[in-house]
Amino acid sequence: MYFPAYRGRRLRKTEKLRSLVRETSVSVNDLVYPMFVIEGKNIKNEVKSMPGVFQLSLENFVKEAQDVYALGIPAILIFGIPKKKDEVGSEAYNPNGIVQQAVRKVKAACPDLIVITDVCLCEFTSHGHCGIIADGDVVNDDTLELLAEEAVSHAAAGADIVAPSDMMDGRVLAIRAALDEEGFYDIPIMSYAAKYASAYYGPFRDAAESAPTFGDRRSYQMDPANTREAMREVALDIEEGADIVMVKPGLPYLDILANLRAEYDLPLAVYNVSGEYSMVKAAAKLGYIDGERVMMETLLSFKRAGADIIITYFAKEAAKVLRR
Ligand code: PBG
Ligand code: ZN
Repeated sequence: MYFPAYRGRRLRKTEKLRSLVRETSVSVNDLVYPMFVIEGKNIKNEVKSMPGVFQLSLENFVKEAQDVYALGIPAILIFGIPKKKDEVGSEAYNPNGIVQQAVRKVKAACPDLIVITDVCLCEFTSHGHCGIIADGDVVNDDTLELLAEEAVSHAAAGADIVAPSDMMDGRVLAIRAALDEEGFYDIPIMSYAAKYASAYYGPFRDAAESAPTFGDRRSYQMDPANTREAMREVALDIEEGADIVMVKPGLPYLDILANLRAEYDLPLAVYNVSGEYSMVKAAAKLGYIDGERVMMETLLSFKRAGADIIITYFAKEAAKVLRR
């Protein structure tokens, strides 16, 4: 059917018509809010490169989690910033570490809020890498044991979902086995399956104080040039027991998301990362764009590309927009 029989504008005439034929939408139910808990008292540090995002000490963290829940956002993703860092990231798997404490406090205050924990070592190691180091390199297999211990300690504290972000080979298998062995067989794993070595993580590393002190993460995170490798990484993680798989970053990798959607029926998550957030905030502050509209259009693009779950620093703002 061609013009003049077909006129696309017929169904674009009014908002009612447009919403009647709309193919996708963003709901508050899709959103996960990443949060940073820091050791100490009465801390509420705004992250310089991420306006509106804070490092919070426990009491403030719990208050913020309650606000998030009150907005109808179903889940938070917790990152921790310890006081002490060492070569092997001991605080990451300390049963009384800052993340484990935060999980316990949030679950006590807000039992229905889904608490997801980031499982990685980079915030806890003195060198800032996501695994332990030998001869200047990140050692894969020895790191797996520590990640498994970390995941179990999160589950023991009451985490609802664990989310490994380290990109070591075999971590999903190791974590699944360790969780099952400790009786946490019904705690899901959300794997950062296709995580690229991206410059978009810059502001996050300020927030989490997790920049590597030497080298970069290219020996474990994926090469931004690769598509087929993402398919393989996701296939492996599913094979190893992942319940939800993630693409990260989001906006520059929508093609990866769409390809995965076509191939897999598992829930798909996307991480709208710090740099994506900061760019919108900066441009809006300069008056170059309408920040709110760009935010909502960005979130919609993730749904259109096939995401079920959107992890985003915009979650609170978006929830308020979706509410009116
Ligand atoms: C670390 C981790 C990173 C993010 C989540 N977990 C960044 C990194 O690899 O340095 C990025 C989040 C963001 O940029 O918002 N394993
Ligand atoms: Zn890491």
